[in-house]
Amino acid sequence: MRNQLIRVTKTTAKLKPEGAYAVLAKAQALEAQGKKIIHLEIGQPDFPTPKPIARAAIAAIEKGLTKYNPPLGVMALRQAVVQKIKQTRKVKIKVNNVAITPSTKAGIFIAMTAVIEPGDEVIYPDPGFPTYRALIDWLGAVPKPVPLLETTGFSFDMRAFKKTVSKKTRLIIINSPSNPTGGIIPKKDLKKIAELSRCWILSDEIYSKILYDNQRHHSIISLPGMKKRTILLDGFSKSYSMTGWRLGYMVFPQEIEEKIDCLLTHSIGCSATFTQYAGIKALKSSNQSILKMVKEFKQRRNFVVKALNEIPGVKCQNPTGAFYVFPNIKSFGKSSKWLANYLLEKAGVALLDGTSFGKHGEGYLRISYATSMDQLKTGLEKIKQALAQL
Ligand SMILES: Cc1ncc(COP(=O)(O)O)c(C=O)c1O
Repeated sequence: MRNQLIRVTKTTAKLKPEGAYAVLAKAQALEAQGKKIIHLEIGQPDFPTPKPIARAAIAAIEKGLTKYNPPLGVMALRQAVVQKIKQTRKVKIKVNNVAITPSTKAGIFIAMTAVIEPGDEVIYPDPGFPTYRALIDWLGAVPKPVPLLETTGFSFDMRAFKKTVSKKTRLIIINSPSNPTGGIIPKKDLKKIAELSRCWILSDEIYSKILYDNQRHHSIISLPGMKKRTILLDGFSKSYSMTGWRLGYMVFPQEIEEKIDCLLTHSIGCSATFTQYAGIKALKSSNQSILKMVKEFKQRRNFVVKALNEIPGVKCQNPTGAFYVFPNIKSFGKSSKWLANYLLEKAGVALLDGTSFGKHGEGYLRISYATSMDQLKTGLEKIKQALAQL
C-alpha cells in the first residue's frame, strides 16, 4: 500500500512543465534520432555575453569574491540599479527599494509569494508568461485572465480589464513588452490601470530595452503615486544576453524590504557574488551592445513578419517589442497544439503553440526570432512548404 504521507502537496502535484521545455525535449529526442531541427522555440538571444561583462565576473572570481553576500545583494549593484531606474524610469528610489535576485523568474516567485494569499484574485495577461499562471494556482489564488487581443496590437484588453478589476483584486501582473506577443501597453492604458486599481502591481519589464520603430518604454512605476504599490522586475538575461547567468532585480516599496529580505534569506540565501560584479559592469557600460543587438533583431523581425504574411492563410502583426512574433493560423482550422506538433514532425521546425501561454493563445503560434538569419530563412521556408500541404 502507498504511504499517503509521502506525497507532494496537492497544489504542487498540479504544477505542469512550461511548454517551451516540453517542445525542446521533444525536438532534442528527434535530433537524437538523426533528424535536423530548426529551433524557433527558445527565448534566448543567440549573441554571446558582451566580453567586458564576462571579464568582470572572471576578475571577481580571481579576486576571491566567491563567498556569501547579503540576501538583498551586493551594495554596489543595488546602487547601480538605483541609478538605472532613475535614468530609465525617471523615478527616485533608494537602495532599500532594491533586491538582487538570481533571475527575474526568482523575482516573480519571491514577489508573488510575498503578496498573494489563497483566495486572492490576481489579474494577469493571457496569453502570458506561463510562470504567472503557474504561481497563481500554486499559491491557491483565483486566476483572472485579461486577454491580449490581436485587434489592439496584443495589448492588455482594457474593456476586459475594467470588468475584471474589483475590490477583491490583490495583484495585477503586467508585462510590457510582452512574451509571447511582443505587444506593448500604451502609456494611456497604464494610466487607466493605475487609476482603476488600488492593489499591488507586478510589472515585469524584462524586455524594456528591446524596442523597435522609435517605441519608448513606459513603466507604471513612473506614474504619480505608483511607487508605493508597484513591484518592478527586470533582469540581465535578455538585454545583456546573460540567460545562463541567472541575475535579475526587484524594485519595491521600502515597507516590504525586511520581508523580501527574509524570503530571500530562507529561499536562496543570496544571489551568486561574482555574477553581481558582472551585473555592475553591465549596468554601468554604454548601451552600445544592446543597440547592436536590437538593430539585428529588427532586421530579423522584418524578415520573419514579411515571410509569414506571404504564406497563404497566415496573418502576422508587426510587434514593436521583445523578440517574438505571434502569427494567426486560425484559417487552417486546426488547434495551435496540433499545428505546432505538425510543424515539428513534418517540417522539423520547433516552435510553440499559443495555448502554452493560456487559452486566449488558441489560433496562434509563437516564433522566437532570437536566432540567426540563416536559421530563420530555412525555418520559414520549411513552415511554408509544410503548411501548403494541409
Ligand atoms: C516575460 C518574462 N519574464 C521573465 C522571464 C525570466 O527571465 P530570467 O531569465 O531572468 O529568469 C522571461 C524569460 O523568458 C520572460 O519572458
